[in-house]
Amino acid sequence: MQKSTFIWMGLAALVVGTWSVASTLEIPEEDDLPTLQSFEIRHSTEPVELTLPNDLTAVPVAKPGEYHVPGRIEDLPDTHYSGLVAYGRDIFVNTQTYAKRHVGNGLNCSSCHLQEGRKPHAAPLWAAYPLYPMYREKTRQVVTFQERLQDCFRFSLNGISPTLDSQEIKALTAYAHFLSKDIPMGTIMPGRGFNRIDKSTDPSPLNGRVTYERHCMQCHGADMLGRKFTNRDGYMFPPLAGPDSFNKGAGMYKVKTCASFVQANMPPGKPNTLSDDEALEVCVHMHLADRPWDPRKSWFQSLFKPATEGG
Ligand code: HEC
Ligand code: HEC
Repeated sequence: MQKSTFIWMGLAALVVGTWSVASTLEIPEEDDLPTLQSFEIRHSTEPVELTLPNDLTAVPVAKPGEYHVPGRIEDLPDTHYSGLVAYGRDIFVNTQTYAKRHVGNGLNCSSCHLQEGRKPHAAPLWAAYPLYPMYREKTRQVVTFQERLQDCFRFSLNGISPTLDSQEIKALTAYAHFLSKDIPMGTIMPGRGFNRIDKSTDPSPLNGRVTYERHCMQCHGADMLGRKFTNRDGYMFPPLAGPDSFNKGAGMYKVKTCASFVQANMPPGKPNTLSDDEALEVCVHMHLADRPWDPRKSWFQSLFKPATEGG
């Protein structure tokens, strides 16, 4: 056979091959692409697909009717109250800037209390405010809402709490007061706190690592140190461990609290991606990572006796 015959046969095979591959490939319609905004329940064994054109930090809005939906600050008349409420929101969403001297890590209040503290099952402020003053096991006394705020500064933000008469505490309280407008005091609202979870087996840190790599690593990083914005200060994906994370006195350091947060909220927009056991495992994996000490304990105590309770 001649050389050119070979070339022609080769080309023909290539054309047929490409055609058959192309005909088996299903190219989804634009509308079918999974988005981070949808509430679909995804079984955790399926690989996670992140669609890049979406805003990865966006958190979906609660459906009205199902949960309390607070009003908009913009609709308030222009008074001292609305100014205080707006300042409270700024502190809550951008604690790094508006309460800088009280923050000792890279987080904002809204890193955990998602969607400006409005999202149900992410410890929304509107469900918390009506329940204070409240007895807390952690401090073994009845605490006011303002004292509760101080604790999140001290432990979750690893900082120095503002005093009770500070502008920061007054503004945050006004913001929570505004979000919980029309909710009678003492009402336990649907969506308070995080998800309820139960364990069926003892969580294994090894499985936790696998779950972490599959579902969390793309955003929070292989080292759990999060990812900073490239064009401005702060974290696009907040750290789950290391010096810029919450300390060992924080509520998130408790494996069960962490798991109930993660199951209800992570990855963003995909609640219930993890089963109860997977959420617990991934939080054991987080629990074992290095982070700032519990400020209530001396470093010597912290070395040998990890904190068991947190805020
Ligand atoms: C690292 C995550 C994290 C950050 C950051 C954080 N919190 Fe919290 N917060 C929690 C957790 C977890 C709980 C629930 C604690 C528990 O169940 O023991 C909580 C509870 C609360 C509560 C009580 C909720 C309730 O339903 O009783 C309030 C109020 C609160 N935080 C306010 C704040 C404020 C204000 C900030 C910023 C100054 C902040 N938090 C920052 C994790 C965080
Ligand atoms: C698509 C990116 C993405 C994925 C995947 C993701 N997260 Fe997050 N996570 C975020 C963002 C963004 C925030 C902060 C939300 C905000 O600031 O509005 C966050 C916040 C958190 C927080 C509270 C803040 C902190 O730093 O402590 C924890 C804990 C957390 N994620 C754990 C997890 C775990 C565990 C997984 C895996 C099951 C996971 N995340 C998967 C983007 C992601």
